[in-house]
Order: sequence, then structure tokens, then C-alpha cells
Amino acid sequence: MNDNNNTLQEDELEQAVTFSPEAYISPEYARAERDRLWRKVWLQAGRVEEVAEVGQFITYEILDDSVIIVRSSEHQINAFHNVCPHRGRRLVDVPAGKRNASGKKQNFFCNYHGWRFDLNGDNNQIPLVEDWQGALDGCSDLSPVKMDVWGGWIWINLDPDCEPLLDYLAPAAALLDPFQLQNMRCRWRKWGIFDCNWKVALEAFNETYHVQTTHPEFNQFGSFRGWGRAQGKHSNIGYDAPKDMDANQAAKLRVGTEKDPRISTAELQVYTWENANTNTTQTLVDAALRLKDELPEGTPAGEVLQHWLQSARADDEARGVVWPTVDPKVVGESGTAWQIFPNFQIGHSVNNMLCYSARPYKYDPDKCIFEGAVYQLFPKGEEPETEWQYCEATAEDWCYVLSQDFSNMAAVQQGMKSAGFSGPKPNPYMERATANFHRNLARYMGSGAPEKLKGGPKKLKG
Ligand code: FES
Ligand SMILES: [Fe+2]
Repeated sequence: MNDNNNTLQEDELEQAVTFSPEAYISPEYARAERDRLWRKVWLQAGRVEEVAEVGQFITYEILDDSVIIVRSSEHQINAFHNVCPHRGRRLVDVPAGKRNASGKKQNFFCNYHGWRFDLNGDNNQIPLVEDWQGALDGCSDLSPVKMDVWGGWIWINLDPDCEPLLDYLAPAAALLDPFQLQNMRCRWRKWGIFDCNWKVALEAFNETYHVQTTHPEFNQFGSFRGWGRAQGKHSNIGYDAPKDMDANQAAKLRVGTEKDPRISTAELQVYTWENANTNTTQTLVDAALRLKDELPEGTPAGEVLQHWLQSARADDEARGVVWPTVDPKVVGESGTAWQIFPNFQIGHSVNNMLCYSARPYKYDPDKCIFEGAVYQLFPKGEEPETEWQYCEATAEDWCYVLSQDFSNMAAVQQGMKSAGFSGPKPNPYMERATANFHRNLARYMGSGAPEKLKGGPKKLKG
């Protein structure tokens, strides 16, 4: 990591900054990311429940690297480079058109010459091993990858000398732990290959400044001011809202403005459920639809919100789904979503979450692999089985609200190449996550650090 003295500090991001669009559009930059970024950071590579049984494995693909993650015992998950140490064949092939390989094995067998490895990566078969006259000892096993677990996710780091995961995730992990994200299970997960850089895709979701314009339908439910905060390597976003309400919940759910809050809550829930299929659950929708029968007209917004969440919590509890109770101070500080450096966003709450990630597609700066996944709490034994579903960037495949976000991506990618574009100028209050991301990214990449934005109109001289 490069620590450049010119780099702005975290607290300086309250001022307006700008930076070069190089990180999004340069082929050389995209190539340099492999060694400087992707092989240095902790990456979210899957969920623990994907390798629930001994022998279950998944792979994680990042540019030239592929990692096998496999459960070897009830208490042990291992990660290995997906390469046979003999002549370098990929050990496990990713099926064509699939996001990654997955399955269940007791051994990993190389299809080229038949070397074989157990679930701890130890070689247990080399045909004609005596031909090497003992020289293979100690160099015929799979090459391990650093792995740890947090939040129900499996994280890997390709740098053998990396810092521990929990140090890396600070302060996000501590503020998210009370939400018990490890107890949630996937409701749906989708991926696609999008026509933009992976940063463009993620930056479509790391601020609320775009909501009023990109998602105009939400304006009818009220408007709330969203903030973005730098949190070391990571960032988070949330909402300002009236003091007497649980700020983030109220604003995210847009309870409490002009309309009858019993009605607006129900309308927003139904709209969100039908058009985004994120950020809510069937229980929350059903409880919202009952508000007008359960509460008298004129009930203040704060009480509507409280009643709604309490009755949804009770409904879920009755079917064995227990929401964690989170200190309101932590709810306020944690906001509504975290941007975990470099490429993972967690939109958390006490009973469901929406996560995004994006990775480069080959070395093409104009393409990325984008992923979205929704999780929630389920009664034990009723968790749905899900798979990664390949989807085009359309409303049909992803729902209307997400397609609104997607509609900006390729256009941003194109626009940033314009000779007339001097660089992004994120809103210092609402889009600070983007500024902080590039501040951190530049420390890994050695270029592209945000600088103070110096205004003044640029006019063509006649
Ligand atoms: S490359 Fe795997 S056995 Fe030869
Ligand atoms: Fe959006």
C-alpha cells in the first residue's frame, strides 16, 4: 500500500473533492488492479451455508485467480488456490455460463495426470511418484489461501502477509455485529455482466443523492436527507430524520411526512415489495397493510412506525423468527448500508439485508461482474435453496427499481471518457462514500487520490 503524503485525510472529505476518471476507464489501471488491489485485500467470497456439509465446496474467481473454498470438518473451512501443483492445470473447472464452481467432493482430482488432494489440500495420490525420487516432498500439496469468517460470509485474502480480517473490517464489523447478519439466509441472488467498470456499478448504490431523480416514484412517500461517512477503509450511508423517530428506519421506510402515515407506510411497502423485492419482507408488508385497521386515523407517524415494527416483530416471533434487538444508538451510527472496501456493500437491518458486489470482468475496464443478493431471517428448516441466477441488466430480470439504477451505469462509463469531463465531483455530504473509497483506493494503487475541488467557471476564450 502506498501512503502518499498528499493524500487527504478522512476528516478532510467534508470538503468538496475531485479525482481523475482514470480508475474507471484506463486499461493500464485495470491491469494494475490485480497485483496492487485484488491480491492485497480481503474479499467476500461466499456464505458459510454454501459449504455447510463436509466436502461441500465453492470457488471464487477474481481475474487470474481462482480459489477453492471447502469444508473439511464440522469446524474447519479451508481455502486453496485452484491450481494443481504438477503442471498448473486448474483443478476445478467453472462450468460454462456459471458464476463459479460448486459441489461436494471427498477429494479433488486433477483430470490431467491424476494427482489427487484431500479436503485439507494434502496430496494423497501421484501416479508413478517414485519417478521423482522423493523430490516432491513438501511441494505437491495445494497452495493455501488466507480465509476467515465474519457475518456469515467467507472472506479470503490472496496476500499471505495480510492483516487479520477483523482488523481489516474495523469499525464496520463491530457496528454490524448486533444485527446478527450470520443468521440470515438468501432469498434470491443474481449476477450479470454489465457494461461499466466495477466501481461505477457499486457507486450507483453507495449514496442516496440519486434517489429523487433516478427513482422519482419514491418522492411521493416523502423526502429525507441522506448522509455518507468515511469509516477508515470503509464507508457507510444513512439518513437524517426527525429526532423523535428511529432516524434510519423511519427514513428508509419513509414513514412520517405529509400523508396519513398508516397509508403511506403500506403503500411504500407494497411498492418496494413488488418493484424492488428488496429491503422488506412478507411479514413487514402484511403488518403494514393492517395498519389502517389497527390504528385510528390521526395516529402520529412515530407511533405508526413503532406499532408496525412491533407487530411485524411479533408476527415473525410467532413463527420462530426472532429479530435481534439493536441499541438505537448503534442503529443510528450504523446507518442503512456499509461499503466494505473495495467491492462489497451490505444494506443491513434487523430482519433482512440487500448486498451488492462487483468485480472486474477480465481486464476490460468497461465491463464488470455485478451481483445482488437479498437475505432475510427464516424459520428454521424453511430456508429456501437458492442458486446464482444469471440475469441481464433489465427490469424483467431484476425488478424495476434496480433497473433504474442500472440505466445510469453504461452511460456513466461512456461519459467519463469524454474529453470534456474533468473528473467526478461527489456531493461532500451525501456522496462522501465515493470520495472515501477513492482516497483508500489510491493508497493501494499509487495514483488517483482525491484532491480539493477548486471551483470557478471554465469558459472558452473567444
Ligand atoms: S497438471 Fe494436475 S496432474 Fe498434471
Ligand atoms: Fe438507486
